[in-house]
Amino acid sequence: MSDLSRRNVLSLGVALGLAGVAGAAPAWASSAAGASAGDPWWVWDDEVDALMATVLDNGQVPAVNTAMRSWVNNDDPLPGGLPANLATWLRKVNKLPSWADPVKLRRAADFNRRKDTYLFMLYGLGSGIMSTVIPREAKSVYWSAGGADMQDRAAKTFTFGYDLSDRNGFEPSGQFVVTANKTRLVHAAVRHLLPRSSRWQAVADEPNRIPISNGDILVTFHSLGTYVHKKLTEWRVPMSAADEEAFLHSWQVAIHLLGVREEFIPKTWAAAYAQSEQVLTPILAPSQEGRELAEDLLGLTAQIDLGVTRGFLNEFVRYALSDTVGDWLGLRRDYAAAALVRTGWPAYIAFREGLIPIMPVGFYMFDQFIRALAMLFLNKVTSPTTTPITIPTGNRPG
Ligand code: HEM
Repeated sequence: MSDLSRRNVLSLGVALGLAGVAGAAPAWASSAAGASAGDPWWVWDDEVDALMATVLDNGQVPAVNTAMRSWVNNDDPLPGGLPANLATWLRKVNKLPSWADPVKLRRAADFNRRKDTYLFMLYGLGSGIMSTVIPREAKSVYWSAGGADMQDRAAKTFTFGYDLSDRNGFEPSGQFVVTANKTRLVHAAVRHLLPRSSRWQAVADEPNRIPISNGDILVTFHSLGTYVHKKLTEWRVPMSAADEEAFLHSWQVAIHLLGVREEFIPKTWAAAYAQSEQVLTPILAPSQEGRELAEDLLGLTAQIDLGVTRGFLNEFVRYALSDTVGDWLGLRRDYAAAALVRTGWPAYIAFREGLIPIMPVGFYMFDQFIRALAMLFLNKVTSPTTTPITIPTGNRPG
């Protein structure tokens, strides 16, 4: 294990309170191979990983994708045409965990609806671009099949966010449980495929380690849920304690559905923040792959009229993520737009939330920007041409 991942293992354990008494190393950290069952960097999704490896090796992926097309709602029966052992496994996992709290999940859905304006911005421009400076994730995404078509991939990822945030997401008539399970299958396939890519091998920090461990998924969760919660707090968006708890709960259930073991899932926002500081913040870094992905993602928005310039978009990303990240990604400066964002955005929030009585300058511009961004998001998700989440059969072509 490299020093970097050893450090992550240790810090994740500390953040999770696994260290026990102060100064004592957690049990898993003392294992020379670092491979004990309690180490999230060495935990993947064994059962389904083995199933997907066989499905891929037997050339059954196209048939599985065809079968899964009609499997959409949480209460849909499992489709016919799946290999028997895959169907048996899905029957076991395709449900909410016993600890899921329906009242909190409903509140989370209501919270997502009430705050959707900020969530579009934060998930889309904040988390989306942050994923490009998480090198392990950026390199996996770039060298997997989906990396060659970021528009299609972004649309599929939107599906996850949309279903998670939907009013009925976790209800029987909703779609999130199925979407999360499809994603879990995709990740299992990637674990089998990427190690066979010589180009991924050439750039991976640890080419011999299987990608998308529980630790990696936790890092990504922090770039999504924890980051969004932190920014909403910093931006003084009013949230009740019950809202905050419900929002965390929806993410706890989401990462459970993606195969993260319960003992690794943070129980409170304080634990999540501590974990994020230890495992996400120190690993953020630029990479060639990440720069290209960021350019692709920001270029997507250029296809529609957001009512703002690319300079404004660059400055909003800098505002949401930091100038360091903006510099890593080579986002051209626009100082006039920067000034507008820094003063106009807090005022926009304050006015929307009824905290100031006078409509600030630039209100309509921000409003138009958000509406256009939301339309981009919703069109992608609801358009009949949107590609549903499908299991890849290979890595990035060409
Ligand atoms: C695929 C979400 C963590 C790498 C997907 C898809 C979704 C998704 C919705 C299916 C859409 C698609 O095929 O593009 C998530 C969420 C995560 C997470 C919500 C954590 C909370 C990770 C991590 C990595 C990763 C940690 C790598 C380090 C990939 C790759 C694909 C994928 C390579 C396949 C893209 C392809 O089709 O080639 N993920 N993911 N994901 N994810 Fe994740």
